[in-house]
Amino acid sequence: MVDSAALSLVLLLSAVGAATVEKVNYDYYKYHPMPEISNWMTQTAQDHPDVVTIVDYGHTYENRKISLLKIGLSTGEKKKVIWMDCGIHAREWIAPAFCQYFVRQILQTYKTDPKMEEMMKNMDFYVTPVLNVDGYIFSWKDNTTRLWRKNRSPGTSSCDCYGTDLNRNFDANWGTIGVSYDCCSEIYCGSKPVSEPEAQAVTDFVGSRKDDFLCFLTIHSYGQLLLVPYGHPNFTADNYDELMEVGLAAADAIRGVHGKNYKVGTSPAILYPNSGSSRDWARQQGIPFAYTFELRDNGTFGFQLPEDQIQPTCEEAFTGALHIITYAHEKTFNGATAATAALWTMLLAASVTGANLM
Ligand code: ARG
Ligand code: ZN
Repeated sequence: MVDSAALSLVLLLSAVGAATVEKVNYDYYKYHPMPEISNWMTQTAQDHPDVVTIVDYGHTYENRKISLLKIGLSTGEKKKVIWMDCGIHAREWIAPAFCQYFVRQILQTYKTDPKMEEMMKNMDFYVTPVLNVDGYIFSWKDNTTRLWRKNRSPGTSSCDCYGTDLNRNFDANWGTIGVSYDCCSEIYCGSKPVSEPEAQAVTDFVGSRKDDFLCFLTIHSYGQLLLVPYGHPNFTADNYDELMEVGLAAADAIRGVHGKNYKVGTSPAILYPNSGSSRDWARQQGIPFAYTFELRDNGTFGFQLPEDQIQPTCEEAFTGALHIITYAHEKTFNGATAATAALWTMLLAASVTGANLM
């Protein structure tokens, strides 16, 4: 009797143990296929029911759901919003890995760090781990599809290739520079502005409450760049100086983590000119802090960044993103200066990586 009760208890405890292990066991330092990322989203929402909700805000061409995690502490007050999307380009696998890391870090940090808690009270984080779901799934299909970039909508009657470059399809100087009208091109901009359902989903969701957004961070690879608006060389953002100042400080913070150099500038200045990007569209909508992150590396592995670089890449990019977010938060809620934001970033980053500031 006693023995069987004890045995039951042992079995129960090991079942609880197994369930716990399962939860903490998600490997953030591997690349995950779409079904695993979807399960991770569900699990993350379940694990933090008071802080995280899943929002489905559109469908892909192949009719899959496009979903984000809304993360924040409810206060009853109206909140500002931070946008982050990853995986608009299918083959840039480090980007979805980063979005997942970012979510885990903010969910860990706010419990112990008063500044992160304050930010979670003043702002909601809207994080889309994979925006181009069809393309991402296609890039996992086999060796021949690994470097797929675009979405998966078919061309026209007169053009027999698949895919539109979603980052050329937004309604921002659409079709004017750095694009192709050939549907077989990697930079095909689509048949008209926002012809693609994935671009439409972002446009509708963000556009419907654009005044609430402080930051629009869209995550790509590769090149180690922080790109500011605009992609068209004839236009300059009205807050260009501030975007550069904040971006350069973020690059300094990034360099401090693992010594990697990130360049900061407009796309025509440091990469190539382009039109129809989501970042340019967001800035045109009035969202002040719109940045494209091009994560590691500089071309050695390119889009096929080895898994052993996921952790350091995420650590440095987290610090960079946090700098921009903290700056936007301090400016908006505390009327603070760039120097104050830099200090908070340093303290937050230290608490994340466990660095000893003394
Ligand atoms: N993610 C980039 C894009 O949106 C690709 C950059 C890769 N090329 C390079 N030269 N770094 O087009
Ligand atoms: Zn890209």
